[in-house]
Amino acid sequence: MLSEAIVFESISLTAVSQKQTQVDGSVSQYDAIIIGAGASGMMCALTAGYQGRRVLLLDHAPKAGAKIRISGGGKCNFTNRHVSPSHYHSQNPHFVTSALARYPSSQFIEWVERHGIEYEEREHGQLFTCRGAGEIIAMLRTECDWAGVSMRLNCHIERIQWQDGVYQLNTSFGRFHATALVIATGGLSYPKLKASAFGYRVAEQFGVSVIPPRPGLVGLKIGLADWAELAGISLTVGIGCRGHYWVRDLLFTHTGISGPAVLMVSNVWHSGLSISLNLFPHRDLVAELKQVKQENRSLKPWLRSQLPKRLADVYWQSFPLEGKTAEMSDQALRDWAEGLQAWQLTPSGTDGYAKAEVTLGGVDTADISSKTMEAKQQKGLYFIGEVLDVTGDLGGYNFQWAWASGFACGIAISLT
Ligand code: FDA
Repeated sequence: MLSEAIVFESISLTAVSQKQTQVDGSVSQYDAIIIGAGASGMMCALTAGYQGRRVLLLDHAPKAGAKIRISGGGKCNFTNRHVSPSHYHSQNPHFVTSALARYPSSQFIEWVERHGIEYEEREHGQLFTCRGAGEIIAMLRTECDWAGVSMRLNCHIERIQWQDGVYQLNTSFGRFHATALVIATGGLSYPKLKASAFGYRVAEQFGVSVIPPRPGLVGLKIGLADWAELAGISLTVGIGCRGHYWVRDLLFTHTGISGPAVLMVSNVWHSGLSISLNLFPHRDLVAELKQVKQENRSLKPWLRSQLPKRLADVYWQSFPLEGKTAEMSDQALRDWAEGLQAWQLTPSGTDGYAKAEVTLGGVDTADISSKTMEAKQQKGLYFIGEVLDVTGDLGGYNFQWAWASGFACGIAISLT
């Protein structure tokens, strides 16, 4: 059967690139070809390579692991001590269970230690390198070398065909064949780092469903008047949406809100929904306001003493409660306290893919085996990492998914 081929990039095979294939004497027949030399692609390649498979890893970018390099503010939050399926978002929440169980974070940590990479634990179990993300890339590249993986960077894939159980790729480096094709091309976030919709198009070519992608772990826009006055204020808040709730730091920006609290909530927020901000997490505000009432203090100065003053003023403009507190009903004070602990804001949108750390949605896991990552209706075609409809919370969970899904697939393609 010859699948209908689609042309991915409008680069024709040039005489130069064909010659390159001949001059460097490269093999064109592999057991597995992996497209995308990011976190999941490298993990998959080295796992299969160590099992004795001939693996070719292709990427159109000039360097492998570009997102790893900028991750975690350059320190790469490479995993988390506490990983469970509850830290992931997908239309099929159970999909991640098997792969995460087979490749726990302790396994990656052990590996990092064996390579002498110093790391530190920050709050919520997040693990970061001490000397920089480059050490994680170097570790993966070294292991790929040891595992005998062939890597081609700056390689453009023009066409994929499947005939008689073999994938044939036309690329700017010539033609390659393999019985297993792994798509590890990630999502759409950070287009300046060569993110592309390639994976979704391959899925569509082979009849695998794609859930519409949207930016995740991203700031949200708030279109309220006077909002820009709040820019630069940061504080710890409780933040909630659709039954989820976290207590984290929030940063007010000129156009909206950002910071860890907002990145978390952006993964569950949908256009049109409101989010709830608790400006006084872990505090019994009703009891505190009873005290204010007893002392007959005015609420505006009290609020200004409890919150950054600019924030108190903007909040007060929308929700003033004038008058003598001694004369206010307990119910009025309770309602006002509840408002401060559940401030409803309706974002007008997100800061978009340019600033999003991840992409929500993607290849529908209903069409993928959770054990092997193989497409159920297309033999030998695998999807791993962020290209799938699997998105982790902030805190090293997205890399842990890349390692775990890459490992599961690497083992699976070694057993075929
Ligand atoms: P990844 O994006 O790593 O790799 C995809 C590869 O495919 C790239 O090398 C790309 O060039 C290649 N590719 C794309 N299209 C192609 C095409 N048409 N042809 C050939 N190759 C193609 N996560 C975390 O757990 N901890 C953290 O600290 C951070 N920090 C962070 C910061 C920022 C700024 C961003 C943008 C993201 C993070 N992340 C993160 C998320 C994390 O980087 C991400 O989830 C993983 O890198 C996903 O790994 P993948 O292998 O799926 O894709």
